[in-house]
Amino acid sequence: MPTPPIHQRDLQKAADAFKRVGNMAEAARSLKLPESTYKHRYKMAVAAGLLPEKKSAEFTFTPLPDEDVSVEDLIEHRKRQFRQKAAHEEARRLIEVRVKIPGPIGILHFGDPHLDDDGTDIEAIDRHCSLINATEGLFAANVGDTTNNWVGRLAKLYAEQSTSAAQAWKLAEWFVTRCDWLYMLAGNHDAWSGAGDPLKWITRQTQALYQSSEARLGLRFGNGRVVRVNARHDFAGHSQYNPAHGPTKAVLFGVRDHIAISGHRHKSGYGIIKDPDSGIACHAIQVASYKIYDRYARDKGFRDQSLSPCVVTVIDPALPDNHPDMVKVFWSPEEGADFLTWKRQRAA
Ligand SMILES: [Fe+2]
Ligand SMILES: [Fe+2]
Repeated sequence: MPTPPIHQRDLQKAADAFKRVGNMAEAARSLKLPESTYKHRYKMAVAAGLLPEKKSAEFTFTPLPDEDVSVEDLIEHRKRQFRQKAAHEEARRLIEVRVKIPGPIGILHFGDPHLDDDGTDIEAIDRHCSLINATEGLFAANVGDTTNNWVGRLAKLYAEQSTSAAQAWKLAEWFVTRCDWLYMLAGNHDAWSGAGDPLKWITRQTQALYQSSEARLGLRFGNGRVVRVNARHDFAGHSQYNPAHGPTKAVLFGVRDHIAISGHRHKSGYGIIKDPDSGIACHAIQVASYKIYDRYARDKGFRDQSLSPCVVTVIDPALPDNHPDMVKVFWSPEEGADFLTWKRQRAA
């Protein structure tokens, strides 16, 4: 917005104040104006002939309007920006999701898809999307690293795969529009795009909740039961003795949620912890990846620790909150889908 012109009366006041006190800081204070505002008015008063010019040479400049917004406007804008950010951040602490379908539901959490990687089992991804669409009550979720998205010095790695960057985004669009998503995370590979992450725009075509790094959901069922799912691309912490160390540490020392799940490490792991306060069972899950053949893992000598590229969690909201089987975990999506179908039929 352009700065509005200054009224003649205000210029006169600025000139009078300067004549009265003889310096700008004092004059600004006497008019209760910020110094920068007063300085501008002083210059305009000089230009309007209300104050004598300070001649330091045989020429003077007509003052130019500032090319940027004033500091007052900038502060107002920054305040608005912070209020907006705070509202967003507070709301995403626990995102409420109202589950409209009655009875048990299942979530098929896809491990890191890396859709454009030659070592990725795209056939399994396609099959699991079909399974979701064919199973009532089963929803899709994605823990991040949807494509390789090589950027910067890693862009040379496109030479090692047969898909181009353009084809990778085509695959991403196919994947995102293939099922109904409960949540979709941006992994470190996706985050390399920075603020212009194309997945953010692709997911806008769907109802998918796309969040960078983490999504903590409160699934509110029709009977009032709230089941919390804390999904992160990666939880802090690593142990050679426990592949699910990150999510286990999160439920032990962080928020106690029914499900804490992460990807990124391309290995499977599972632990269950009882919260002594509420009595709920916290399921700490590490899900592997659809990138089955990985040169980097081979070079580094990583052991194969993948039980499955995905995991299915079946939730029965009819069971009490502290029932140890309110959430059941399946590594075979077909077994999970069958169990869900059986549970739903029994509940009907
Ligand atoms: Fe990752
Ligand atoms: Fe990954």
